[in-house]
Amino acid sequence: MSARDAWKSKLGFILAAVGSAVGLGNIWKFPYVVGKNGGSAFISIYLACIILVGIPILIAEIYIGKKSQLNPVGAFRFFQKGKIPFSPIGYSGVLCGIIILSYYSVITGWICHYLMLSFRGFYGTETEISTIFDNLNNTPWLNVAWHTFVMTAIMLILMKGVMKGIEKASKILMPILGILLLVLVCYSLTLDGMKDAWHFLTSPDFSKVTGGSLLEALGTSFFTLSLGIGAMITYGSYLKGEVNITKSAVQIALIDTLIAFLAGIVIFPIVFSNNLEPSAGPGLIFQTLPVLFAKMPGGHIVSVIFFALVLFAAVTSAISLLEVAVSFIIDEFKCSRIKAILIMGSVIWLLGILSAVSSWNVAGTPFLDLFDKIASCYMLPLGGLCTALVFGWAITTETKYKEIGSSVITKILLFAAKYVSPILLLIVFLKEIGSF
Ligand code: PHE
Repeated sequence: MSARDAWKSKLGFILAAVGSAVGLGNIWKFPYVVGKNGGSAFISIYLACIILVGIPILIAEIYIGKKSQLNPVGAFRFFQKGKIPFSPIGYSGVLCGIIILSYYSVITGWICHYLMLSFRGFYGTETEISTIFDNLNNTPWLNVAWHTFVMTAIMLILMKGVMKGIEKASKILMPILGILLLVLVCYSLTLDGMKDAWHFLTSPDFSKVTGGSLLEALGTSFFTLSLGIGAMITYGSYLKGEVNITKSAVQIALIDTLIAFLAGIVIFPIVFSNNLEPSAGPGLIFQTLPVLFAKMPGGHIVSVIFFALVLFAAVTSAISLLEVAVSFIIDEFKCSRIKAILIMGSVIWLLGILSAVSSWNVAGTPFLDLFDKIASCYMLPLGGLCTALVFGWAITTETKYKEIGSSVITKILLFAAKYVSPILLLIVFLKEIGSF
């Protein structure tokens, strides 16, 4: 068998990990979840979740991957001590990645569609523009076609390998994403609604925060950092040599959070300048924003930049989702990379058709919503909980101090990984089960 793939540079790893983390979670989910939960009070809770749970588990995943140099299934097996098998945690992660990518690809397809429409410009009355989304949803062949296009593109990138495919794509797409985002931030700063948006994002009103907001904050922080399915284990497994894991994890989380916040800075001034409610929900970027793009001066260019940015973010995340499943097949079945990509890509493409045809549902719930619920509400927190338990309790503290470091910050984060994260994740998981 050929040698295991590896990153060319540490920067390449950081950009790929940031590419995985920054995705629809930051630009599509974060702003509407913040809008729904009353703004900045929610952001404070979200930040606490990132620090107390996100970063500790990120350290855990990178460490587990780097140490074992294996896919999530093999990696958990590697750390097994007693009779209780750890590999099911990895299997559940791989399955969860498959489920998420199946609908993530459909949503990425919507973004491709909107990008194409942006080139032409959004015209027509408010109702006409906001029905574009319904029309798209009610045209199964179009959804399936975009889904097929996205899956093919992702498979082609992965076929080039870890260094020449994932690392290179991230090195090109992430800086462009950063520049596009800054251009949009500058634009939003000139809008009248900026003052209201800034107030909304920075003056906490804790009366709007409910128990549900806490769950939502933890779930969103987990999803946006790509935790709980072994994506960071997989990326960590391509790391060689000396790496400061704590520093990398903090950098990844910082950039991810900054980008989510900047996405809010872009979106909310547009919403407030048009006297709209910030709590528009999941339709925010597909239904609300295009209406505003149509009326805004320069809206045509802004919409092209905006949807290109979201597309780049989504593609680099989708790449990491597929890589989890691919690395599993390569390691466990000693299969060639190309074959593994063809097998897993086809399975996910087939599964995604269920989400692409929006009229197909289970007891009235469309497959896309169902898969999102199963993956982000149950499987991610459960995966995170098990990861925290393995990392916190099956590996001795001395080993971790020796291999990760023993600076005060690392010690605090390792403490959080052992005690705070599992407790919080357990609460979230039980709450979700309770509300089932
Ligand atoms: N982090 C990605 C986002 O914010 C989603 C993702 C989840 C990617 C889990 C990989 C693994 O959109």
